[in-house]
Amino acid sequence: MACPKLFLSCLLLQLMFLFLVPEAAQGQGLKVGFYRKACPNAEIIVKEVIGQVMSVAPSLSGPLLRLHFHDCFVRGCEGSVLLNSPTYQAEKDAHPNHSLRGFQTIDRVKTALEKACPGIVSCADILALVARDVVVATGGLFYYVETGRKDGNVSTSKEALNDLIPSKANITTLKIDFAKRGLSVKDLVVLSGGHTIGTSHCPSFSNRLYNFTGKGDTDPTLDSNYLARLKLSCKPDDQTTLVEMDPGSVRTFDIKYFNLIAKRRGLFTSDAALLDDSQTKAYLDFQIKTGGSTFFKDFGESMVKMGRIGVLTETAGEVRKVCSKVN
Ligand code: HEM
Repeated sequence: MACPKLFLSCLLLQLMFLFLVPEAAQGQGLKVGFYRKACPNAEIIVKEVIGQVMSVAPSLSGPLLRLHFHDCFVRGCEGSVLLNSPTYQAEKDAHPNHSLRGFQTIDRVKTALEKACPGIVSCADILALVARDVVVATGGLFYYVETGRKDGNVSTSKEALNDLIPSKANITTLKIDFAKRGLSVKDLVVLSGGHTIGTSHCPSFSNRLYNFTGKGDTDPTLDSNYLARLKLSCKPDDQTTLVEMDPGSVRTFDIKYFNLIAKRRGLFTSDAALLDDSQTKAYLDFQIKTGGSTFFKDFGESMVKMGRIGVLTETAGEVRKVCSKVN
């Protein structure tokens, strides 16, 4: 159910659905409505805080969605991306994670939840719920989030470096890395659609502009007009400039990023690579042709699958009191 402008009636309808959904048992000890008894307002609290944050800092929608992805791809969805290390060797200290933002928002949600129900809602679940709520807040479709994850107590920069997929990844690497986590080729193309919101720093794609094969060349698969525009924004060695990944609709969850990829204007090699596989290309073509007829629903389904990766449930793990440190 899309609720792009958060009309009150739509909001109420969503909440109604939240309570009507059957207590279906789902994958790996997770279930929709896990906190219904122990913290009945948990999802409402998350939604309220995210609503407040979005009203003053809408640019946090991208970072908050990305946090859940970076959590799940390293050690599974168990909140390890949020942990601090006194010696700066946690996941968030790894180079690919230096551009992560939104940690304070997660802390703000956690504080609100601890006030309402101390020690009940895990940080890993907060990441999953927040990701859903930013998708909805930017115009995506509501989906039920399975909850019941516990938080892990290990977080290393080494693992983050190994497990996070580089923006230079080709289609073979992408497919393998998703398959390793139980995610299909369809999940790969659908979840890459998350790049419909948010921004990127120049170094994540500047090799395509200045040094594609190590000979000072450009990526021939990148549209030449787009390449020229990107070069204006990103000078060589620019480490700080932010570029909109889906220019013009960077805060709207839509299918425009797929249009860009099809026009050879996907920002990362990993996005452009979606044209190199018949299945991912067919998916892109279909969504473009049909105005994203199934993308919005597909995105929710793939997010739920991603949210199951390596979860800790029941007696495994803990519910952290503070998301940045183990109890
Ligand atoms: C398929 C492999 C993926 C690769 C290689 C990749 C890579 C990247 C890179 C390099 C950035 C820019 C970082 C920066 O320079 O600031 C980025 C941003 C982002 N990614 Fe991905 N990503 C992938 C998949 C995903 C998935 C599955 C999601 C979520 C479902 C996602 C959501 C985002 C969002 C929302 C941003 C914008 C963050 C912001 O605004 O700060 N990405 N991604």
